[in-house]
Amino acid sequence: MPDIQSVIEKLCTEINDHNYRYYVLNQPSISDEEFDRLLNRLIELENQHPELITPDSPTQRVGADLTKNFPTVAHLQPMMSLGNTYSEAELRDFDRRVGELLEGEKYDYVCELKFDGVAISLIYENGLFNRGVTRGDGEKGEDVSANLKTIRSIPLSLGGSSLKNIEVRGEVLMYRDDFIKMNAKRAEAGEATFANPRNSSAGTLKIQDPKEVAARPLKFFAYYLRSLDKKPPFKSHFESLKFLHEMKFPVMESYRLCPSIENVFEYCKEWEEKRETLPFDIDGVVIKVNRFDQQETLGATAKSPRWAIAFKFKARQARTVVDNILLQVGRTGVVSPLAELQPVFLAGSTISRATLHNEDFIREKDIRIGDTVVIEKGGDVIPKVVEVILSERPKKSKPFVFPEKCPVCGEPIFKTEGEAAWRCENIACDAQVKKRIEHYCSRDAMDIENLGEAVVAQLVDEGLIKDCSDLYSLQPEPLVELERMGKKSAANLLEGIEKSKTRSLEKLIYALGIKFVGEESAKDLAKHFKTLDALMKSSVEELTAIDGIGDRIAQSIVHFFHNKQNLAVIEKLKRAGVNTEWHGTVSQAEQIFAGKTFVLTGTLPTYSRTDASKLIEERGGKVVGSVSKKTDYVLAGDDAGSKLEKAKALNVKIIDEKQFTEMIQ
Ligand code: IVH
Repeated sequence: MPDIQSVIEKLCTEINDHNYRYYVLNQPSISDEEFDRLLNRLIELENQHPELITPDSPTQRVGADLTKNFPTVAHLQPMMSLGNTYSEAELRDFDRRVGELLEGEKYDYVCELKFDGVAISLIYENGLFNRGVTRGDGEKGEDVSANLKTIRSIPLSLGGSSLKNIEVRGEVLMYRDDFIKMNAKRAEAGEATFANPRNSSAGTLKIQDPKEVAARPLKFFAYYLRSLDKKPPFKSHFESLKFLHEMKFPVMESYRLCPSIENVFEYCKEWEEKRETLPFDIDGVVIKVNRFDQQETLGATAKSPRWAIAFKFKARQARTVVDNILLQVGRTGVVSPLAELQPVFLAGSTISRATLHNEDFIREKDIRIGDTVVIEKGGDVIPKVVEVILSERPKKSKPFVFPEKCPVCGEPIFKTEGEAAWRCENIACDAQVKKRIEHYCSRDAMDIENLGEAVVAQLVDEGLIKDCSDLYSLQPEPLVELERMGKKSAANLLEGIEKSKTRSLEKLIYALGIKFVGEESAKDLAKHFKTLDALMKSSVEELTAIDGIGDRIAQSIVHFFHNKQNLAVIEKLKRAGVNTEWHGTVSQAEQIFAGKTFVLTGTLPTYSRTDASKLIEERGGKVVGSVSKKTDYVLAGDDAGSKLEKAKALNVKIIDEKQFTEMIQ
């Protein structure tokens, strides 16, 4: 059974070999997509086990972790890093140096949150988003424009701003809640999870398919602005942040002008305490000298500016004792170990559990029942065990032995090659049965209200249902008998179940809980096959030909529809009248022009016709040649002629580029 380390080693060798074939021999032997899948798998594994990253991993090449599909671009000005301080004394040292170099001049600081995300640089030319680049090695980064453009808060144009050519820097991040939800879904679908929101954001920016990026909850905050041509109408960092805000860039409002280092301390203390109240992670405060002329006087060392510094917060760690190691069984049968801890207060909440990931994790750290451990709150709600304090280990303690049987149904458990998790393969296992039904009813699946964990458990325990198809034959009488269930709730429940019959195919596909089929793949499948029957008949070849469906997913789908029990459940769903056809709405959020027709006329100030048409079509709209009563919008530029006249005569809505840009943002 290969352990994680040898899986990583194998991936490294394989990827390096493909790199060589591609870059040196010019003879690639796999598709770009397959290559990315390998690389992403490696990145994910390394994210989860950073201790296993070797200096020669393909993710560690100089020039940073470049995937071949993102062009490398030089930064207009290097993206420097910041010096770190961890104490008041170090911060006072910094302030003393600033004072000395400014030779008695008065100076102010601006304090800001230090976002724990991914730094990027955005370039705007002639008022339009031109490109967005990752930090990379500081000198050059990767052009991830297509992905950044999916972040709706990043403006695509500067509107009426007086500055047209600018560089904006900021941080891409994920809100903790969004991250937790996303990770939970990935785990459920059997996909690898990310260690924290930062890794997750970094990983997402490197995905090759912007569509998939768009479905992930990335956010952006700006913290730096530079004019690339004319003199800007501001002279200090504080003013530049206000200007950024006016230009409609998302700027965290918590920045503050601090006339003295004492105010800086106050700000740092305040946010160290309040950090939990933010929806995202910060790891400190950034302190910047406010005036640009003074920043220039102070200059920079080889690595970082002398006018700015980071004050890093202490890790949110605590010590406690492992009372027990529990095992939970998930929907796909994965048996995950969990540490039951003596409750301890940490960063805003009382902690009594910590994830132990899998058997390898427990073995590597040799975590035992009775051990005193250091736990740390990362991005996840469930904290991690970072260290065992060996000196506190009880004398009689024994290494934890992973069970050979499912803790719920008692059947033997198995481990597949290349996977770290043990699985219970008994699909009738009570834990899995309940989790599968819960998944079927969940918001993003069939969205059946009031059918959460507790009710599902009761229904299964009372023998009223064995799988999701049984929901549709539930009768009011036995329901009313259930605990905390009155006539009214029973009626509501049945109504909710009835309503779920009309959901579109992608919801049903996702709800079936096919291993590796997440929401995104479910959408792709529904769009491609249009009916469940067509999907059920598909082959691995046909499936892998679909954009976004790899071999692993394809195998799993075919396997699922070959299982007799699954087929019986589907048959019952159909007989109950559950819809098995695609409704045709892919992603309503993106398809803002669905069903709308546009006519383009005249010369637009910035977009070419092809660009504008593409923007419309990508959002579900249609571009036609002539104006009629059925035309929804005429997008008119300079020197628009007869089409504009006709639009006016027919009372068709006429918009200019500015309005159009606002619509697509
Ligand atoms: S300013 C020269 N402001 O910190 C100053 N950086 O070590 C450039 N960061 O990679 C950075 N929040 O990702 C600045 N409010 C903030 C920041 C911030 C987070 C990160 C950034 C950069 C790192 C510097």
